[in-house]
Amino acid sequence: MRRFAIYPGSFDPITKGHEDIVHRALTFMEGIVIAVAHRATHEKRGLFSIDERVELIREVFRDEPRVEVTAFTGLLVDFARRRGTNLVVRGLRAVSDFEYEFQMALMNRKLYPELETIFLAPDVRYSFLSASLVREIAALGGDVSEFVSPTVKDRLEAKYRELAR
Ligand code: PNS
Repeated sequence: MRRFAIYPGSFDPITKGHEDIVHRALTFMEGIVIAVAHRATHEKRGLFSIDERVELIREVFRDEPRVEVTAFTGLLVDFARRRGTNLVVRGLRAVSDFEYEFQMALMNRKLYPELETIFLAPDVRYSFLSASLVREIAALGGDVSEFVSPTVKDRLEAKYRELAR
């Protein structure tokens, strides 16, 4: 069986930090399924719709056949079981991420004992980067070209122009 891992997240929108994690994971995995979580219980809807996030990620990885992009609803462990893998990749930027990530990894393992979460450290250039900061900078007219791919930058600008109308 092809060894692949799921890389789950909100990806609102995908940043160069996320891209970096995928490239790192592909150095030792045969494939990565980027899974955009659709959280019905989340009261905040986010900036991009789930379909828009999926479309943006597909665009970013259009030349990388080892990456599949999809959305999922419900529990991550159920999605992982359905897809036939016990491997999950997450990026760990700083100590501040650790508590949340550790809690999630152990809870997921409780729900699916064979599940392993692989934490990868991003390039130091992205260790302070988050999608929420990118959204805020873009919303206030700042330049995000260092932090997101050109497609994402264009869509962010278009989105905020649309919202300002
Ligand atoms: O990018 P994020 O917002 O930090 O990603 C969090 C995510 C989507 C990975 C997490 O919330 C998740 O796995 N959600 C799916 C629902 C689920 O399984 N919840 C229980 C986690 S222990």
